Amino acid sequence: MGIRFTRVLTASVLGMTALFVTGCRQDMHDQPKFIPLRMSDFYADKRSARPIVEGTVARGQLKDDTYFYTGKIGNQEGEAMPFPVTADVLARGQQRYNIYCTPCHSELGDGHGMIVQRGYRPPPSYHTDRLRKAPIGHFFDVITNGFGAMPDYATQIPVADRWAISAYIRALQLSQNAQQSDLPAGTQVVDRVESLIPATGTPGSGATLPPTPTQGGETK
Ligand code: HEC
Repeated sequence: MGIRFTRVLTASVLGMTALFVTGCRQDMHDQPKFIPLRMSDFYADKRSARPIVEGTVARGQLKDDTYFYTGKIGNQEGEAMPFPVTADVLARGQQRYNIYCTPCHSELGDGHGMIVQRGYRPPPSYHTDRLRKAPIGHFFDVITNGFGAMPDYATQIPVADRWAISAYIRALQLSQNAQQSDLPAGTQVVDRVESLIPATGTPGSGATLPPTPTQGGETK
């Protein structure tokens, strides 16, 4: 009796084990597939990675709105924003401008940014007739492709942000050149220099730049 019982037990344990082992087949693991860059004998060029069908466009990369991406119509810099300028767009433009452009152009856009005060080539002020009349596409193009000594910011600044910055520069230009007729009744154009003087400061001190530190004169 005892021996028979042991045999039955052994048989069922073996049976279960066999079921268990065969149940664990690794079909998913062993399926036929190409591991990246592996050679293939199937294709004539021996490459398992197939070339992309001609004309394929990656998701989000269809740059069909040429004006949005270049700021140009043909070869001409455009006068229009490619999307409506809302308060949010201007606020975004101001924030991005303050991050990326003020080191050279300053918050006012007069070209006296901090690194210019430390010897970098001074950019022109935005508040000249030439740049006031420049089409908005010019600002977009300068950010996208650089201009003379200025590097481009295409990698750092996404396309929509470049437009937001361009719109903000327009606002900046207006802010420094407002005419009384631009303002609502009851408001006054304040002289730019006067407006920079801190309440407690000596008149005129707000407009003068701090002297450029001489080389080696820096303290830690
Ligand atoms: C590292 C300093 C630096 C930074 C940062 C910088 N610029 Fe400039 N920018 C210059 C210099 C220098 C020039 C003049 C280039 C020249 O004439 O060779 C210039 C010129 C310009 C001009 C005038 C182009 C013309 O028609 O004369 C515009 C517009 C301009 N920058 C916009 C921007 C904007 C917008 C940003 C921020 C996204 C920016 N710049 C960031 C240095 C800088």
